Amino acid sequence: MNSIDNTLFIGKVLFSLERIASTNLYALRLLDEEKPIEGTIVVAYDQYAGRGQVNKHWESEPGQNLTCSIILYPDFLPARQQFVLSQLVALSIADTLRFFIPKGVKIKWPNDLYISNKKITGILIQNALQGSTIRSTVIGIGLNVNQTVFTSDAPNPTSIALETNATVDLKLVLTKLAQNLEKWYLKLKSGKMEEINTTYLEQLFRRNEIHSYRRPDGRIFSGSIQGTTATGQLIVDTEKGAELFSLKEIGYVL
Ligand code: BTN
Repeated sequence: MNSIDNTLFIGKVLFSLERIASTNLYALRLLDEEKPIEGTIVVAYDQYAGRGQVNKHWESEPGQNLTCSIILYPDFLPARQQFVLSQLVALSIADTLRFFIPKGVKIKWPNDLYISNKKITGILIQNALQGSTIRSTVIGIGLNVNQTVFTSDAPNPTSIALETNATVDLKLVLTKLAQNLEKWYLKLKSGKMEEINTTYLEQLFRRNEIHSYRRPDGRIFSGSIQGTTATGQLIVDTEKGAELFSLKEIGYVL
């Protein structure tokens, strides 16, 4: 497959590679060397040094999962609004997952995809800023599709195959993802920030439920997630009232 069908610009250029360290690194190098057209996708059959958040490794068995990166140029978006990119990417993946797994897909703040208490997709977005705007973004997506045994210390992984007992064609997953990402990105381009935010909130894991969380010093507390701020902080109702958390300030007790 050398391009995606039924999209306007996402995946019209597709680098489909046998074995590379990381699709994000490859996409960042493309950005350094030339200006790839918007929507260019890099996908790897075997990504042997995938990067996760906070410098962790991303486990993916060769040929079993979707590991890809998509290049966009959201230069119309002020850098202070970059959280909306995380939101729309998460929504695109949620729509894609729901095609295969109709029930239980949730977005765990800020942008992991969960089925029940298990992580099915991780996202690593790398923005290049220019002054107060975003010059380019590399959206890295690791979506677990057919892998059924996970060996890394990732605490709670799952996959489409584990959830459905069925094997899925990776090309179909990538096509759906590209189509959904284009749909949500075009909404952003046409100014539908409110729709993106509302839909994200509706799909937020543990929203309006009381659960346990961990502070950086290890203390456990209970709270109820209410939503997110425009800059992407998590709003949690706790015994102290409404508290705002950045990524490293709160851990989920799963
Ligand atoms: C996370 O830790 O949750 C983020 C994982 C992101 C993994 C994807 S796989 C494709 C892309 N290339 C990488 O090296 N990482 C991202």
